[in-house]
Parts: sequence; structure tokens; C-alpha cells
Amino acid sequence: MTDPLDNQTAYWDRVAEEKNFTLPFNKRRFGNLVDLEAKVLDFGCGYGRTCEILDGLGYRKTTGMDIAEKMIDRGRKLNPHLDLRVLNPSQWPGRPAFYDAVVLFAVLTCIPTNIGQETLLEQIAHVLRPGGILYISDFWLQADDRNLNRYRVFEQKYGTYGVFELPEGVVLRHHDRAWAHALLSRFDTVVLEDIEVITMNGHHTHGFQYFGRKGRGSYGPGYLAGSGAGDEAGRQAGRG
Ligand SMILES: C[S@@+](CC[C@H](N)C(=O)[O-])C[C@H]1O[C@@H](n2cnc3c(N)ncnc32)[C@H](O)[C@@H]1O
Repeated sequence: MTDPLDNQTAYWDRVAEEKNFTLPFNKRRFGNLVDLEAKVLDFGCGYGRTCEILDGLGYRKTTGMDIAEKMIDRGRKLNPHLDLRVLNPSQWPGRPAFYDAVVLFAVLTCIPTNIGQETLLEQIAHVLRPGGILYISDFWLQADDRNLNRYRVFEQKYGTYGVFELPEGVVLRHHDRAWAHALLSRFDTVVLEDIEVITMNGHHTHGFQYFGRKGRGSYGPGYLAGSGAGDEAGRQAGRG
């Protein structure tokens, strides 16, 4: 991911001590799909909140990675025994088919561009073994006036409906269903369900939880190229 919009590290470092993340983790469903011996990657782990949940469930082979060093510092202070790492671009995406499961919680929202999200999903497909589980939680487009106004205002600047700035200095994205569907099309959906969540800034918001399985198809670089994720659905994004 080369677009600075997809790597807003300075913001996440700045807020590392003050933000608390809240997306609920479905322990029962994860436990039914991923066994305790699994190697789990928590990508964009922040201060290790979901790594801590996994540890509490008995998953001992979890690695958390995040671009923000200060998030990782906070996580290490809270839970020194967890394996939390600052994302090193020279070592990412890393070994093919290494992980049994990948957790991606409120990370797509931080990666506003289509190409950034496509690249990340390609990289995740690369490190996930065939049959491995991808567990995503993120935010849908909202229908309230506050959100509709900012989607309209910032669509002109960023070219994608659902991308918006917060005055505190970060650009985020809420997701159109057609876009999410296209983005995840090479995974086999196990469950996609809507949930009500509270954002890091305390707003009640419609979100989703997705469990997908990596199939046996080809996931090499550019595997999304033929899926339409970057073109038709991208153009439709925000209109659903
Ligand atoms: C809203 S927080 C969620 C943290 C954690 N997943 C949770 O739910 O508790 C998003 C995290 O993603 C990280 N992040 C943003 N862009 C990223 C990128 N391009 N690569 C890796 N991590 C990123 C941020 O530093 C931040 O810690």
C-alpha cells in the first residue's frame, strides 16, 4: 500500500493512548471455526485488545501487527506476554499460507482507497493457508444526516462515496455492500451478519461481521483483477 491515505500512521500514533476500540468479538463462532492450536494473525491489532481476547480463549499462537508503534507500545505495557509487532513493510506479507486465521477488526475503515483494500486482501490471502478463516468486522454506510452530509462533501475530494474526514485528522471509510461483496468474492462466505456497534468516538453505528474461508483457488498477486472489485462495484460504491 503506497498511498499515504492508507498509512495514516502519525494519526494512529497520536491517539494511541486515548482511543478505546469496541467492536465485539464473537468468541463462540470463532471457536467453532478455528481450533486452539491455530496460528492467528491479528492485522491492525491496535493496542492488542483482540489479541488479549484470543489469549483469554486459549489461543497461544497469536501475532498482532500494527503500523502504529505507539499502539504496540501501549499493548506491550498492558500485556507483556502477547506477541505484538510493529508492521515491518520489508517482512510483510511474509510466508505464504503460514496462518490458519486472520482477524481484521476496524482496519478496512482506516484504509480508504479501493486499491489499498484490494492489496491488503491479496496480502491476507497470501499469508492465509487454504481452508483458513478470515474474520472481519467493520462499518457499513450509514443513513443518518450527519453521515450522509459528510459522505456527500468528501466524495468530491476523495472520489469514493463513504470516505470522510474527521476533524481530529484522519480519513476513514464506511462501506457499500456491493463493494464489500466484490472485495471478498474470492473467499467463501461462512457468515455475514449485521451488528450494531459503537465507534471509537461513541457513535451508534451499523456494522458487520464476516467469516470467510480461503478456498483452493489461485490467490497470487493480482487475483482481484478479474473480480470486478476495482471497477464496476467500485463505481457503484455508496449507491446501495
Ligand atoms: C480502529 S483501530 C482497531 C484496532 C483493533 N483491531 C481493535 O479492534 O481493537 C485500527 C488500527 O488499524 C491500524 N492501521 C491503520 N492502517 C493500517 C495499515 N495500513 N496497516 C496496518 N494497520 C493499520 C491503526 O494503527 C489502528 O491501530
